[in-house]
Formats: sequence, C-alpha cells, structure tokens
Amino acid sequence: MPRLFYALWPDAAAREALGALAKRVAAESGGRPVPAANLHLTLAFLGDVPAERVGELARIGGRIASRPFRLAIDRTGRFRQAGVAWAGPSEVPPALAELQATLDQSLRAAGFAIEARPFAPHVTLARKVARAPQPGAVEPVAWPVAGFSLVESARERGAYRDIGRWESGREY
Ligand code: 2AM
Repeated sequence: MPRLFYALWPDAAAREALGALAKRVAAESGGRPVPAANLHLTLAFLGDVPAERVGELARIGGRIASRPFRLAIDRTGRFRQAGVAWAGPSEVPPALAELQATLDQSLRAAGFAIEARPFAPHVTLARKVARAPQPGAVEPVAWPVAGFSLVESARERGAYRDIGRWESGREY
C-alpha cells in the first residue's frame, strides 16, 4: 500500500534557504538534517492507502480550487515527543488555512481517516534531535506557494515522489 500525503513543495530559492536552515538547526539541536530535496510542508497525512483508492485522492486534489499565497517561514521549534526540529510561519496566510481546511473536509467526507489535531503548519528540518534549536527569530524564508501536491513516501529510500500536482488559480 502506498504511503501518501498532500504537501507544499518549496520553490528552488526557498528550498536552498530552508536547506541551509536545516543544517544550522540540526547542528544546534544535535539532530540529523533533512536533505534539502525532501523539505516540504504537509497539508494532510493519509498514511497507507489501498492502491484502489489512490484515484479518489487524485480526484479530490483536482476538485480543490486553491489561491496562491506567500509564506514567510520565520520561526523554529521542536516537537519533543517526535524528536524533530521544525521551521514554520508565525502567521498562517488565510489561503493556506482555507486550502488545508478544504482538503481536510473533502478527505473526511470521502471516509479517509486523517489527523484530528489542529493544523500546525511546519517543515521538519531535523530528526532525532537531542534538544530544542536556539530560541529567537530566524531570517524569514520567503516561500511563494502556487500549488500543492499528492506525494508518495517511498519508505525504503526515504524519498518522495509526486503522484499529483495542482496549480493555484489566480489571485482574487
Ligand atoms: P513530520 O515532517 O512532522 O514528521 C511524510 O511522512 C510527512 O507526513 C511528514 O511531513 C510527516 O510529518 C507527516 N506525518 C507523518 N506521520 C504523520 C501523522 N501521524 N500525522 C500527521 N502527519 C504525519
């Protein structure tokens, strides 16, 4: 069964800046940096999905009309239990909240069991961390978002692959 989630991928400039931040934060927190190519922001985590339901997920993605928005990734922190250090936006753009809420509702309506906890947008920067990264603001990373993806996580290689991608409409 494929392991799937919907996510935002950074553009090249944001990926580079987040990759540098991941190395710094991993060093500060005594963890293992996530490779730049794997850095993403999860919108909805599905886990293992029966192969015959993947088409449904692609249709759900295709029905969602998202608006473009700009993220400013300007703070870091740690999820102690998960042992990860992350970066995230101190302000959640309304278009991001809408996109996540619409996805969440569509997935629930279709009977997919997804995370019940409130959405905490973050990019995992380092895993197996020993301590929290240094407190304080980070130089904001500008991340223009113009679409979202349905992603497969290949467990054996720790790699991700888009199996669907939907561009945002124009701003209104
Ligand atoms: P993480 O980065 O905070 O670990 C692929 O594994 C993506 O799905 C990652 O972004 C991961 O979050 C997220 N993920 C994994 N398990 C999850 C779960 N049970 N609930 C929500 N997100 C999860």
